[in-house]
Order: sequence, then C-alpha cells, then structure tokens
Amino acid sequence: MCGIVGVVGNRNATDILMQGLEKLEYRGYDSAGIYVANGDNSSLVKSVGRIADLRAKIGIDVSGSTGIGHTRWATHGQATEDNAHPHTSATGRFVLVHNGVIENYLQIKEEYLAGHDLKGQTDTEIAVHLIGQFVEDSLSVLEAFKKALSIIEGSYAFALVDSEDTDTIYVAKNKSPLLIGLGDGYNMVCSDAMAMIRETSEFMEIHDKELVILTKDAATVTDYDGNEIERDSYTAELDLSDIGKGTYPFYMLKEIDEQPTVMRKLISTYADSEGNMNIDPAIVKSVQDADRIYILAAGTSYNAGFASKAMLEKLTDTPVELGVASEWGYNMPLLSKKPMFILLSQSGETADSRQVLVKANEMGIPSLTVTNVPGSTLSREATYTMLLHAGPEIAVASTKAYTAQVAALAFLAKAVGEANGKAEAAEFDLVHELSIVAQSIEATLSEKDMIADKVEKLLSTTRNAFYIGRGNDYYVAMEASLKLKEISYIQCEGFAAGELKHGTISLIEDGTPVIGLISSSELVAAHTRGNIQEVAARGANVLTVVEEGLEREGDDIVVNKVHPFLATIGMVISTQLIAYYASLQRGLDVDKPRNLAKAVTVE
Ligand code: AGP
Repeated sequence: MCGIVGVVGNRNATDILMQGLEKLEYRGYDSAGIYVANGDNSSLVKSVGRIADLRAKIGIDVSGSTGIGHTRWATHGQATEDNAHPHTSATGRFVLVHNGVIENYLQIKEEYLAGHDLKGQTDTEIAVHLIGQFVEDSLSVLEAFKKALSIIEGSYAFALVDSEDTDTIYVAKNKSPLLIGLGDGYNMVCSDAMAMIRETSEFMEIHDKELVILTKDAATVTDYDGNEIERDSYTAELDLSDIGKGTYPFYMLKEIDEQPTVMRKLISTYADSEGNMNIDPAIVKSVQDADRIYILAAGTSYNAGFASKAMLEKLTDTPVELGVASEWGYNMPLLSKKPMFILLSQSGETADSRQVLVKANEMGIPSLTVTNVPGSTLSREATYTMLLHAGPEIAVASTKAYTAQVAALAFLAKAVGEANGKAEAAEFDLVHELSIVAQSIEATLSEKDMIADKVEKLLSTTRNAFYIGRGNDYYVAMEASLKLKEISYIQCEGFAAGELKHGTISLIEDGTPVIGLISSSELVAAHTRGNIQEVAARGANVLTVVEEGLEREGDDIVVNKVHPFLATIGMVISTQLIAYYASLQRGLDVDKPRNLAKAVTVE
C-alpha cells in the first residue's frame, strides 16, 4: 500500500528511485511516479499500471541527484495519472509524495484553498497546495511545512522537495511507516528498509509527529515545535538475496517452499540445544499474569490466531479470544480483569492493528507483537516483541508468515504452560514435533504436480467454491478460502462443515467445488465426512485433504500426520498450493493480486 522512496546527495537519483520503487512493488499499487530535481531540467514522470510502465516513460534526460518517488494504492480518486504522485503545488514549486489518508482534506480545501485549481481528487494534492500557499503567504518552507502539519489530521508519511532548493528533502510522519536510510554523501527516506538495502544498511527511525530535515550529510529530527531530537541509527540485518526470487516464477511459490526452513529457524531461535524454551521470561510472566489472552489481527494473521487458539488454551489454561483489528480499534468490547493483548502481524505495520495497540497502550494493557519485521511500528509500540524469523515475505498472499505465527505461538504457549506447571506443556516435545511438521511440509511440497493437476480439474472455470471443516479444520478453511479468493478471484467461503445445512447449503449446485478438510479425531472426521456426503448428494464436486490415518479410498490429498497442536500448519500447506495453482492456471499475477496491498497502512 503506497510506497515512498526519496534520495538526496551524490547518487544517481533516477536509478535509486526506480530500484526502490521496484522493491516497493510488493506492497501493492496501481500507479507510480518520480520527480527528479535538476534545475530547469527537472522531471516529473507518472504512469498508471506497473513500474515497468513508468520505466518505459523515463528517458535518459531524467537525471539528477535529488528525487522522490511513489507507488500509489488508490484511496481518494481513481488510479489515474492526475491522481498519481508526486503532486505539485499551484505554482509547481513544491513536489510532494504521501502515504496515508488526510481526514480533513475537504475542510482544508474549503478553508485555505479557495480559487486553487486542482488537477486530481487526492488529499495529497491539497496538502502540497496548502504548503505552497503558506509559502506564498511569506512563510519559510520549513515554517510552511510545520504549519501544514499542524492543520492536517489523519495518517501520513510525507516527503517534500522544494524545486528552488533541492539540497533538502522535508520529511514527516504520523501513523504511516517511514524510515531514514543513511549513506556516505547521500541520505534516503523510504517506506521500508528492504527498498533501501541495496544502498545502505544503516537506518534511523522516525516516530509519529516528527519532522526530519534530510540533506546529503545529515538527518535532523525535530518535533513539530522545532525541538531537536537525538536519534541513534542502527544497522539492519537484512540480506539482499532474501528479497530476490531466484529461479522461482513467483515469490509466493518461493515462500511456500521456504516453510520447512522457517520451522527449523524457529526451533533454533526459541529453543536451546536441550530443547528448553528460549523465550524472554518477561513475556512469559506477562502472559502468565493474564486471565485472558486477546489476539488482535487482520486477514491471514487473524486466521493464524484462530489456528493457534486451541493449542494456546490447552497449554496455558488461559482463555483466548480473537478480535478483528479493524473492529476493535473503535469498538472495544468489555475486557476481562487482567487482559493481555497479542498483536499478530507479518508486516508490523497494519494500521488497523496499530489502532488497537494505541488503545491498549492508553488503557495500560500489556501487549506482545508477534511480527516478521524487526523495528516495525507494532513492534516498537508494544510492550514486547517476538519475531517470526521467516525472512522477507514479498508476495501479497501471506503463507510462511501464517505458519511461522502458529509455530511461534506454540513456543510461547509451551513456555507459559511449563511456567504454570502444566504437565501437558512439559510433555509436549515441541522441538521434535516441529521437526516432524517441517518434514510433513516437505512431503506435501513434493506433491506439487499432483495438486496442480487436481486444481485444474476442480477450479479451472468455477466462479465460486467452498472449504469446509470442523474445529481446527474450520480455522484452516477460513485461511484457505481467503488465500484462494485473494489471488484467484474465485469467490470462496470457509465454512464450519456442520453449519452449511443451516442455510448456505442452498448455494450448492451441480459442479460447485467443495474442498473438505479432515484432520481431527475419528469422530470429528466422521461428522465432516457426513457433511461432505450432504454436499456431494447435491451435485458438489468434492476434493478432500485428509490427515494420514484418517484417509479412505478416493481421498485426494493425504497429509502426513503431525501433533494435533500443530495440525493447522500441516493442513494449510496444500491449500496454499491450491490457491497458487488456481491463480497461475488462470493466468493471473500471483504475487500482486488486484486491489490488494502487502502492508495495509490505512484504516
Ligand atoms: C494475506 O494473504 C493478506 N494479504 C492479508 O490478509 C494480511 O494477512 C493482512 O492484511 C494483515 O497483514 P499483517 O499480517 O501484515 O498485519
């Protein structure tokens, strides 16, 4: 979702901006643009569509050493060139890129910008006109920027260039992610570290409501009153090769394949060589002290919370409640006396989850962010952090983060259960069981051709489908259906198998694809099979994914047996492949599905 990159200094800005925008592509966007300052030869180039479309419009004359670039995920106004960033002030002197949503943009327009001719419909264009207007009114650039920031309400990450003095980029942020990258003779600003690691591994955080004056030699951080803030830089442990696709056609397939490695990485991170849990004792104590665990998340991370719920409850003896972050941010239900919030988020930047965390912090509730991105907003602002160590996840469809979330929570659950003296926790040999999970994943991955073949028969022409299951299989069905619909555009519901007959079964007709998930006990499996019979009798085209030991003749995909606490990981892998092949076979862009963004940084 909207990406920003900017550079000032002794480098080829066009090259750096374009490389940066390519690295930001994974976030999701529908138009893009760059501004490269070069006196009278400055260039503003924008394009609807992909970065490749933008690149095709950039000639060799687009050169300079200061510039800003942007990928836009449309919020205010359609994906058109006029709405694409960078935007310019009325006279064209100021150039701005923005990520976020300015809530009071219409009031600003009415109150301050009467007579201004706006080219597009974006809130960003209003912001840059406002800054330009204040300079016209005789404020200095910095004062004008600060005054605009004092008026603007909402979320934003801004990078502003004054075409009459291009030695400085003015930067500010509130609620939207933005990071400074420090180089030798040049400095950068960007939505995330990954888009800068080709240029630098030295970064500096910007906190909300801070302003940065960025020149080639310095990054001066101040508050909005101009008070200077000391901020140390840090070196990021990122590997450029982690964000390459290698020989894979799509990131999603690479990331699905990486899951056994991720499981092993989590073992080596969260257990010592004797198999003892290696979790920060303060986190364990905080969960022990809670009378209820609340997991707040969105999308796949929310589904991962459900996939971990039974295991967490059984091992810790603490009830676990799930909350949709976008709902809880503004409709917090009645909480228990001693709540503990766990924010699950691959990116650590999801605005909806962050809104819940802001509330939790106001209420003094202890919180733990479980995220894949060190230094992310949710990680910085929660009481504690546990990292997923899954390596960068680039495909919009989250796969390895889901399984890593369930596995990471298993380590937490076992550590808390052991501290609570629960025999079941002590007996649960997580290191051994997770190694078995890694092998089970490998076994499923070796069946790709068979799965692709089944997907072609089942899903090649359908417009809708169902996943059904009971208990943990229902939770996997929720995730499986989200994955299928987000990248194949097949309308798909994940349903509790027993609930179908209470209404939804009326949608089943001749040829409706229904994928049944069966991993629980014999008894539960028998009930799910009954529900599968019910849909088959009404014409459904059924595919079964069954855990070893519960299979029957005619089942389609048999998954190696793993410990019941970790069965959601074992079962989800084939559903990830089903989604992947359904998308691939329809000729879609697997990694960048329409309308979606990787890091959803607006509410
Ligand atoms: C997953 O495939 C989706 N792209 C999406 O649901 C995602 O999980 C959700 O937006 C939450 O993101 P987060 O984990 O980064 O907070």
